Amino acid sequence: MGSSLLDDECDYLFKTVLIGDSAVGKSNLLSRFAKDEFHLDSKPTIGVEFAYRNIKVGDKMVKAQIWDTAGQERFRAITSSYYRGALGAILVYDITRRVTFENLRKWLHELREYGNRDMVIVLVGNKTDLVESREVEVRDGQSLAQVEDLCFMETSAKENLNVEDAFLQMITKIFEIASQKSLEAKENEASKQVLEGRKEIIYVVDEVTATKHTNCCTL
Ligand code: GTP
Ligand code: MG
Repeated sequence: MGSSLLDDECDYLFKTVLIGDSAVGKSNLLSRFAKDEFHLDSKPTIGVEFAYRNIKVGDKMVKAQIWDTAGQERFRAITSSYYRGALGAILVYDITRRVTFENLRKWLHELREYGNRDMVIVLVGNKTDLVESREVEVRDGQSLAQVEDLCFMETSAKENLNVEDAFLQMITKIFEIASQKSLEAKENEASKQVLEGRKEIIYVVDEVTATKHTNCCTL
């Protein structure tokens, strides 16, 4: 679906990544978001796959390019290229397996090591449909998100709960940061012009003084 190039109708291209332990539901969250599909029997991802979706934010069109990697350690030899240029990450754990929550520490470490400093990170506790098997409470996710300064949401890729919201929250936040940066760049450009203008005035004054001086000497 789509190409890696920015389409004519798109104003922004945002690279984002999905990370977290194997079988937490990363690929299904992505297929739900990109194609509205869910597969109960999905296979572990090998290497990297990606999908695109165009989203309207305000009056701009954003192309979200979402990379989905293997959670299994043996397939993860790509780390730095995976994170390169990524503006956002969805960090997923499975609310029915405590170990996937404990491992978030490792994922956060990797994100901080390889990711962009102002990357938007959304923490996602997936599989809320499996109420009976819950091993991680909502408040656990909330407090980790608070401590680590992340956005937080619980989802069910199976029942399509909050999936759209999780991706849209990340994309909207990236958009806000990008707009703020382009505004600051414009302001810097404007103040540079003011400074250059001042330099010209000084230059003109200097020239007048010099002329006067010359006149003075010839008298
Ligand atoms: P890796 O590619 O190995 O890293 O795994 P993954 O994180 O991509 O997991 P994947 O999406 O392949 O899902 C693993 C299993 O969990 C599959 O059997 C899915 O059907 C199931 N699954 C994913 N999301 C949900 C969910 O929200 N609810 C339930 N009940 N099962 C889910
Ligand atoms: Mg996968």
